[in-house]
Amino acid sequence: MLTPEDIKAKKSKHEMISMITAYDFAFANIAEAAGIDQILVGDSLANTMLGYKSTREIGMTEMLIFTAAVCRGAPNTHVVADMPYLSDKDPQTAYDNARRLMDVGASSVKIEGTPAGVLEFLHEKGIPVCGHLGLLPQTAENFKQKGRTEEEARAIEEAAKFVEGLCFETVLEHIPEELGKKITDEISIPTIGIGGGKFTDGHVLVMHDALGMHPNKIPPFATKFVDMYSVGVQGVKKYIESVKARA
Ligand code: KIV
Ligand code: NA
Repeated sequence: MLTPEDIKAKKSKHEMISMITAYDFAFANIAEAAGIDQILVGDSLANTMLGYKSTREIGMTEMLIFTAAVCRGAPNTHVVADMPYLSDKDPQTAYDNARRLMDVGASSVKIEGTPAGVLEFLHEKGIPVCGHLGLLPQTAENFKQKGRTEEEARAIEEAAKFVEGLCFETVLEHIPEELGKKITDEISIPTIGIGGGKFTDGHVLVMHDALGMHPNKIPPFATKFVDMYSVGVQGVKKYIESVKARA
């Protein structure tokens, strides 16, 4: 299992870091068997697993159940657990909730943005934190690319310099490629892109997009590597035929 230090060291060795989301035992098994560096139990499970429109619809109850399942399914993989909406609303609440995620097996937690005093407090308490900058789905009004204006780009860059000292890596979501490169060059911790261009130190994808587990449109920066949705529908159709044929 990669420790936060191992993951940081990959940046200096110029080794790309692979991360994918998984939400349950079976798919954590698949990710670990494939040899992924890190699994993210994303709060995107609100969308992919529970059918909600927004990640704001879930909280610690859901995150604890799914994180525990993933940790059982991938006992030898570094598991990052997302801190759900409002679970990090102040430093003490954030610490208590991070502790609960670590207690069910997470190796680290991920926090969107830089909520006041929270990253400092978790750092002081020794909780390894993965940052998340750029597009922040929990609070975003839309899903447009962030950091296009000079002002926005500067704010993201400043946030990156801030999390550099408090996180062991950071996700960069949906920002221009040049900004992804600039931040990756400027900070010493690994950057994990999802729509952050090709120069980040690693990449993360939502497993349901990467494995084609749904028939819906995927984000422009995602790639569907296999079409599990079609394979699944075909499989169930074959089963139905065999039932009807009394086979
Ligand atoms: O919840 C999630 O899947 C995420 C990734 C998009 C980084 O936070
Ligand atoms: Na998330």
